[in-house]
Amino acid sequence: MAMNPADYVTLPAFQETGYVVLDAYDQAQDPREWEDLTFVDWKSSGDTRFAPLASAYGDMECNGFWNHTPAKTDKDGVWVPENVAVAPRLVARAQEPGANIGRCRVIELQPNSYGETLYNLHRDDNNRLNPEGTGWIVRAFFNLTDDPDTVMVLREDRDDPSTETRIALPAGTQAIIDTQRLWHAVWHPSDKPRYCLITSYESGPELDAYITTKNGVSRIPSAPIDAAVLAEGEALAASKREARAAALAAQGADPTFGDGSLSAGASMETYSEA
Ligand SMILES: [Fe+2]
Repeated sequence: MAMNPADYVTLPAFQETGYVVLDAYDQAQDPREWEDLTFVDWKSSGDTRFAPLASAYGDMECNGFWNHTPAKTDKDGVWVPENVAVAPRLVARAQEPGANIGRCRVIELQPNSYGETLYNLHRDDNNRLNPEGTGWIVRAFFNLTDDPDTVMVLREDRDDPSTETRIALPAGTQAIIDTQRLWHAVWHPSDKPRYCLITSYESGPELDAYITTKNGVSRIPSAPIDAAVLAEGEALAASKREARAAALAAQGADPTFGDGSLSAGASMETYSEA
């Protein structure tokens, strides 16, 4: 994608690292509304399901806004009445920044390995159809379940482990990420699914003020990882990528990730969340 963030309104808080970690939220004070939401599993991947709170046109579905007719950019999401009715706190939290909201949904992620996470690293397509001169779309991740051993893996360069930051995800962790810039995926070593509220926001004065109010910081110490786990993960991800490239080559497709020719069981949209 040939988009240049310089053609959009961006926030200085994201300039250095591409992410901001906010004050933690006291998640324990809230009811577990995500347990009452309706989840849809339209995706081909068996590892995730999503409960839409705001979708392109208010339907119970999670497709990218650009895949609808008429197509739209990831702004002006329409609330999904059935899920909004059972999750007023989640909706209120999503609305608190006051910035324009696009996709808003709760993800359910099943446990996985670090190597699978590295294989799943991807960048989002948040700004497709976004008019130049308007706000760059970034995405907020509010962790709902208490997953202290789980980390959001971020990389500036997918293939360079030295660019990796791991954000630990205990309950109430709040991060906002330029997911079109940073490669990202979540490593969830657990025996239970993880739930997280994910919201697309338009960059602008409202989001800027919210980040300031919540004491956003642009760099945090990475959660520790064992060197052997890291090496094993890199090896697994590399072997999975080789196998996938071979499968695509056998079909005569260009194996370049995200080029739209993916037909070997995975599409960009499969990996469009974290
Ligand atoms: Fe994503």
